[in-house]
Amino acid sequence: MLQGKHILLGITGSIAAYKAAMLCRLLRTAGADVKVIMTPTAKAFITPLTMATLSKHPIAVEFYNPENGDWHSHISMGEWADCFIIAPATANTIAKMAHGVADNLLLTTYLSARCTTIVAPAMDCDMFAHVATQENIETLRRRGVIITESPEGELASGLTGKGRMAEPEALVAAIEAAIAQKKKSNTLDGRKIVVTAGATIEAIDPVRFISNHSTGKMGYAIAEALAVRGAEVELVSGRTNLAVPAGVKRTDVLSAEDMYRAAVAAFEEADGAVMCAAVADYTPEEVAEHKIKKSDDDMVIRLRRTKDIAAELGRTKGSRLLVGFALESCNELTNAEDKLRRKNLDFIVLNSLQDSGAGFGVDTNKVTFIDHEGRTELPLMSKREVAERIADRIEQFFDK
Ligand code: CTP
Repeated sequence: MLQGKHILLGITGSIAAYKAAMLCRLLRTAGADVKVIMTPTAKAFITPLTMATLSKHPIAVEFYNPENGDWHSHISMGEWADCFIIAPATANTIAKMAHGVADNLLLTTYLSARCTTIVAPAMDCDMFAHVATQENIETLRRRGVIITESPEGELASGLTGKGRMAEPEALVAAIEAAIAQKKKSNTLDGRKIVVTAGATIEAIDPVRFISNHSTGKMGYAIAEALAVRGAEVELVSGRTNLAVPAGVKRTDVLSAEDMYRAAVAAFEEADGAVMCAAVADYTPEEVAEHKIKKSDDDMVIRLRRTKDIAAELGRTKGSRLLVGFALESCNELTNAEDKLRRKNLDFIVLNSLQDSGAGFGVDTNKVTFIDHEGRTELPLMSKREVAERIADRIEQFFDK
């Protein structure tokens, strides 16, 4: 898979830089052409001579060679690469990447590269756990940078914890996966897909509302996965604090009624929809104009049914794609199968509140896909991976 691929290897100033030598070797053995950029500090951890010998290319560190003025073009290196991997990536470099700082050749190359970037964090466990580092990592991830797992283990500081750089073999696997994914990047070209996500908010008065625990993570991950594969995605989003994924058009809504209108309108021109939102089934019959004052008596709020958006799209969908979700706490499979038929869905993604690691707020999910032919149970995986599996199913639907 890596035969003839151009891999740009960025090395920053971390003890784990010694593992970059092995990574370079593994990549070369797999047939890849490897060029190396080092930050000035990285030279203290591994020599340019070692990396130049292993990669069979001169190492780029500075913007130009002071001896002869030879210019190292960060733009042409970014264009050359099929994949840019920064391994090891220090907390400092990750922070600079997240904030667009461009004070060395590696960073300017990152800012101008159009290929997939992979970051392999390597640092002390406390630095890794710090909220600033975690927020920077999350920012990069949101922007499409692949962040490799930092396994737990003994660190150079003598402490034990999370922060070690992933092993070179795991990094090669991440590069292979990124290149395979890139091949898939236009499989949904020309498809327009609506995704609903997040929780709706049903006002009681100007101050209070009825809502639920949905954070929107699953729906946003699906919108992102579909957009990466080339689909034109309209995300109809209830309240969340997530950022809009790159390339996705977002329409913000509050109530179930707003979401109904926005989703029905977006679906008119669409090839399909994924209904991931947690929509309120009931809304207060009346919204008080002013803040309701308390009294000594108990209080009753009368609720009326909201419209079922998925069922409405199911009624009008024809041969278009419709995917639903079911969150169940008992009789999971029968309930989900009933929803599949009742709402005229092509397939439904069942998650059970019984499974640990699935449900609201967490980054993982354990789901079962159910269609009219049968059931497929998936193991516990990240919401991003679940989104990829859903995107695979959507591709298969359009390929038929
Ligand atoms: N859904 C929707 N509009 C609604 C309610 C639900 O589009 N007003 C969609 C959800 O986005 C999800 C699917 O329907 O894809 C199942 O939602 P769920 O609330 O689990 O099912 P309900 O039909 O509301 O059934 P119940 O409340 O009995 O579980």
